[in-house]
Amino acid sequence: MIGCGYVGLVTGACLAEIGHEVVCTDNDEAKIRTLQAGQLPIYEPHLDQVVERARAQKRLSFTSDVHEAIRSGDAIFICVGTPPLENGDADLSAIDRVAKWIATESRSPKLVVEKSTVPVQTGQQLKRALAVYGRNGGATFQVASNPEFLREGTAVGDFLHPDRIVIGVENKTAEEKLREIYRPILEKRFHCPVHTKGCPSSDPPPFVVTTINSAELIKHASNSFLALKISYANALADLCEKLDANVEEVTRAMGLDPRIGPQFLRAGLGFGGFCFPKDIQAFIRLAERAGVDFALLKEAEGINKRRIAQFLEKARRVLWVLKEKKVGILGLAFKPNTDDIRFAPAIDMIRQLLAEGAHVSAYDPEAVEKTRAVYPKIHYGADAYEVAKDSDAVFVVTEWPEFRALDWKRIHGLMARPLVFDGRNLLDAAEMKRLGFEYHSVGRPD
Ligand SMILES: NC(=O)c1ccc[n+]([C@@H]2O[C@H](COP(=O)([O-])OP(=O)(O)OC[C@H]3O[C@@H](n4cnc5c(N)ncnc54)[C@H](O)[C@@H]3O)[C@@H](O)[C@H]2O)c1
Repeated sequence: MIGCGYVGLVTGACLAEIGHEVVCTDNDEAKIRTLQAGQLPIYEPHLDQVVERARAQKRLSFTSDVHEAIRSGDAIFICVGTPPLENGDADLSAIDRVAKWIATESRSPKLVVEKSTVPVQTGQQLKRALAVYGRNGGATFQVASNPEFLREGTAVGDFLHPDRIVIGVENKTAEEKLREIYRPILEKRFHCPVHTKGCPSSDPPPFVVTTINSAELIKHASNSFLALKISYANALADLCEKLDANVEEVTRAMGLDPRIGPQFLRAGLGFGGFCFPKDIQAFIRLAERAGVDFALLKEAEGINKRRIAQFLEKARRVLWVLKEKKVGILGLAFKPNTDDIRFAPAIDMIRQLLAEGAHVSAYDPEAVEKTRAVYPKIHYGADAYEVAKDSDAVFVVTEWPEFRALDWKRIHGLMARPLVFDGRNLLDAAEMKRLGFEYHSVGRPD
């Protein structure tokens, strides 16, 4: 496993959990030291148990010696980051670097698996790089694509109970090898840390075998489609606000149609995180280069980019002047159950609030430390109540379930002005009004 971020760690730990021997490496030595010391560099439910068990059973180890990791495995999963470049393209330099290492260090046949999200045709480039830099006759290479669909916050469950396993291969040997790797998941033979009282019964996940190009495209196409759905719900919310309808009522009824489905139709501050924003950008660039006008995606991206500014405009109409106002932010992670703040709406919102001279105080159950590295000077409350104290407004930015369960009556008493902007439609509008709040949400009548 090369790359011990979210995907690398979850993949490595879960593959060890289902019985394989896994060596994980990363060029971030501090990350490897943390892992060797038995700690996790990220917050992800159940991951600590999986890592601990696999390490105790000597199936999972961490090393900063990338050469050792490469030589030890016959299948190498590339899980390095593919962040966006300035122009929106995926930065594939980490994949390129890793390809050179694999080519020069391998002494035996290897199956090289792309787990990172990459633009279509990366597999071809990877194959070429492995061939060009290969130095040892004993090393031959097969390349496969195995896109990852896990969601942060439910990553362990998603990996062990996937709704599909997609592999892109060039021949039967690579297909069989990957089928063998995933056999315990396909046959549901593993210890599940998520369902301690037994996993719900379900059919085995479909094992979808495609070409490498198709597998790469499936990942970008899936993420872009989900992003599109979210932006659709958000544009609908804007319409509902203008026409005095309730977006929750509209999307709930829409979602009952099985052709539409209820998921990813929640209106709010839009999508963030390390996947959707960069993947939709990379997909737009890919289409442009292929000479295909995929303007639909550009619009979905544009709608998303405008969410924060639009929501702050609503806040400005109510608060009048933002300068010198004390504003509380509830939620920093891009979604609940993670400490990931990459491209998180809260980060953008804080930037805009600070630019207008507001005093920001923030709280998140898991993501404070990571946010402190970006904004060391804002105030961080020990809990939501400290953030609410004496504030002129509170913004709900991440839909952590525990925010719903807060003692909002107490918060009402603590605030200088009991004003809540709920960017995730997390709270019950009628209840908030009953408690005496000025309450504003997204696409629901104020
Ligand atoms: N995070 C998700 O929910 C998710 C889901 C599906 C797919 N993906 C994709 O998986 C890939 C990884 O995402 P992530 O969230 O795990 O990112 P991440 O930043 O958490 O992890 C990437 C890791 O790669 C390491 N790395 C970078 N260059 C390296 C090199 N040359 N050698 C060794 N290690 C190197 C980094 O130090 C980092 O630890 C991306 O392509 C992403 O799009 C992510």
